[in-house]
Amino acid sequence: MRRVSIPNLRSGDRVSRAVYTRYDAPPLLRAGAHISDGFRQSLERAGVNSVWIDDDLSAGIEPLEALQDENRDDAIAVIRKAFGEVSSAPGGGKLTPKVLDEVREVAERLSGDIRANADRALALNDFANADGYTMKHTLAATALGLGLGLRLFQKYGWLDYRGQRNFGSIDERLSILGVGLLLLDIGKLAVSPELLYKPERLTDDEWQLLRAHPEVGCQLLKDAGGVSPISRAVVRSHHERWDGTGYPEGKRGADIHQFARIAAVADVFDALTSDRPYRAAEAPHFGYSYILSRVGHDFDPEVVDIFRTSVAPHPPGTGVVLSDGSCAVVKHVQPGMVNRPVVRVVLDSSGAKVGPQDVNLAAHPEMTIVSADFDPWARPEPVPLA
Ligand SMILES: [Fe+2]
Ligand SMILES: [Fe+2]
Repeated sequence: MRRVSIPNLRSGDRVSRAVYTRYDAPPLLRAGAHISDGFRQSLERAGVNSVWIDDDLSAGIEPLEALQDENRDDAIAVIRKAFGEVSSAPGGGKLTPKVLDEVREVAERLSGDIRANADRALALNDFANADGYTMKHTLAATALGLGLGLRLFQKYGWLDYRGQRNFGSIDERLSILGVGLLLLDIGKLAVSPELLYKPERLTDDEWQLLRAHPEVGCQLLKDAGGVSPISRAVVRSHHERWDGTGYPEGKRGADIHQFARIAAVADVFDALTSDRPYRAAEAPHFGYSYILSRVGHDFDPEVVDIFRTSVAPHPPGTGVVLSDGSCAVVKHVQPGMVNRPVVRVVLDSSGAKVGPQDVNLAAHPEMTIVSADFDPWARPEPVPLA
């Protein structure tokens, strides 16, 4: 399956995943539907940028899914509920213990999904079904943070309050981390929902206001009661930086709770690689290099070590140029060898169509990925307008 932008859709293309424009309404397009001009227009009208389709070129290419559909949808519902509680009340809302119970329950199920998929590389998931940046960002950062957390706890252990490394009860630790990740930015809703969607860059005053969101979020959780102090620490400290340049407290290094250091990496990576009101998304490989470049400055070296070996800089479906000049599509990424995926070569070095032919870069050390600026899905011929 592959993701195709709306102008590149052809009539007759088969949709491989349902397209939702609203969480609480039936899909605009169901899986298996064939694209018609009418559908293309309604997709455009609904503001959908791209859809997943099935075809020969993309056969065997599957997006890296971390979460089961049902758990993902329930997570969207519960985030919506929690965020709704906070933003709807005049003068700042509150979180109820009931919605927090639901958050905890969903966090446990998401952690279970992440554990079940521990043999996969981590990638940006397609959370297009989640409407709006906040929902997508929350889900993607949660899935990534849990994936990083699991591997970090397995390799380095989770740190207890004495700074000792523990390797037991990882499930329980992941769920606590998950609650913090799901509610990471809840304080933004209380501060000012409008600022979240402002298309222009924020003014200094607005920026100062927004910078209060970690403390505001932490306080919301405290007031509601029953939330682990560690989940609260994740919310409070997710903008702290390893070298002490973050906020709100300017904590540094080991003084920042380990779980918040995980959240910081997941939050920044997803923010960079998502569309924002004021700029288009960066490619995953850009976000990947950025995180690596900030090790020891912004981020905990242990978390970055896990990130480096488990997140796919070129997720399945990405077009890449190889060092011999041929062009390919990433088919499969294995954790531990995230820079050596299996790729499907579609153009040779002269630009002529080939095969297609699958090459495992792990078995070809002489070949490297030199660029990810190849769009295998772009069609040179003009799209006929009917
Ligand atoms: Fe934040
Ligand atoms: Fe964030």
